Amino acid sequence: MKTITYPNPRTHISSEEAIRLEFDYSAHNYHPLPVVLERGLGTKVWDPEGNEYFDFLSAYSAVNQGHCHPRILNALLEQAQKITLSSRAFYNTQLGQYARFMTSLFGYDRLLPMNTGVEAAETAVKLARRWGYEIKGIAPDKAKIIFVAGNFWGRSLGAISSSTDPSSRKNFGPFMPGYVLIPYNDLEALSAALKDPEVAGFMLEPIQGEAGVVVPDAGYLKEVRRLCKDHQVLFIADEIQTGIGRTGRMLACDHEDARPDILVLGKALSGGVMPVSAVLADDEIMLTIKPGEHGSTFGGNPLGARVAIAAMEALLDEDMIGNAERMGKRFRSEMQKLVDQYPLLKLVRGKGLLNAVVINDHPDSTTAWELCMKMKENGLLAKPTHGNIIRLAPPLVITEAQLLESINRFESALKQFIR
Ligand SMILES: Cc1ncc(COP(=O)(O)O)c(C=O)c1O
Repeated sequence: MKTITYPNPRTHISSEEAIRLEFDYSAHNYHPLPVVLERGLGTKVWDPEGNEYFDFLSAYSAVNQGHCHPRILNALLEQAQKITLSSRAFYNTQLGQYARFMTSLFGYDRLLPMNTGVEAAETAVKLARRWGYEIKGIAPDKAKIIFVAGNFWGRSLGAISSSTDPSSRKNFGPFMPGYVLIPYNDLEALSAALKDPEVAGFMLEPIQGEAGVVVPDAGYLKEVRRLCKDHQVLFIADEIQTGIGRTGRMLACDHEDARPDILVLGKALSGGVMPVSAVLADDEIMLTIKPGEHGSTFGGNPLGARVAIAAMEALLDEDMIGNAERMGKRFRSEMQKLVDQYPLLKLVRGKGLLNAVVINDHPDSTTAWELCMKMKENGLLAKPTHGNIIRLAPPLVITEAQLLESINRFESALKQFIR
């Protein structure tokens, strides 16, 4: 028999080695900032050499509750010692409790559990199509879903089919039919598109995260809600990045009391501990999917369900949402002073602790990347999104002192950069 050999993983490797190993053996589908995270606690992370950083990316808003939150980790460990996966072939003790917890918290009849954000968003699209055929009465295979330019909901073929970012789509076609694209923050375009009786749903990020933290005009979400209702079209809110307290409310839609028909959550639903995503909707929509028609081996696993309850409890019990609102206001007012002082900064925008600073340079320039490199050297981690925009989104547990210290580090990086 052939002997199987494999390299033994070590508990400690240097940053240099970690980067080299990823480069040599992992697919080149990301271009990370050259920093290795070995450990994290709350708002801080450390590299293998012991250098400390403030994390202003929070794993794209998945770590809202802070790194390695003890309450979430305890739930993880306790449940992991009992059972991690049942599959939906059987029941488990956690999923029902989790579904009850979430539906009562968010005010929907039912929850459909998935794992990653893109799976949940795609589930929402499937649900809207199903509802379109079975409740609205759209003719077979004719259902349409409206999306807005600049949307981002992941990397599956379903998701990139709605993308307006050429780098997401190039040489991945053919794409999904039945998608309609309109401009973001444009109620006239929405109103016109909704007139088509074959439209089943309108999917929207209440604030566009990946596009560069683009905040729509005040009143947009409320009007979206009204227009969709008037045209018997489902309003699907992709709150995967904006939800779970990130913008200073539980949902970004809550800023305008715009209740979506289908709510999509992910990322911070598990506090960044493991992939947990969910779709919430009422019976009329959710019960159009029958047993065997949709699912996932890991979706609804007891470990994820237990972790998600703990993550939501931590968020609520520690008033992280209120902190996001207060710290966000402070952050933007302090950053505005830097914008006024340094011509390299064009503007700061955002809500709660989902913010971005726009660099005064050509969108294709490498300025934002280079500034992020300088920020890293100063102990502050963030990444450019869309060329010249830097998203700044720390965990929601950040203290005022940490916030001010981070802004100092940002200013030091800025000074070194323009010198
Ligand atoms: C708004 C939004 N929707 C969906 C997704 C996809 O989530 P995932 O990467 O977990 O599939 C993301 C990820 O960044 C997102 O920001």
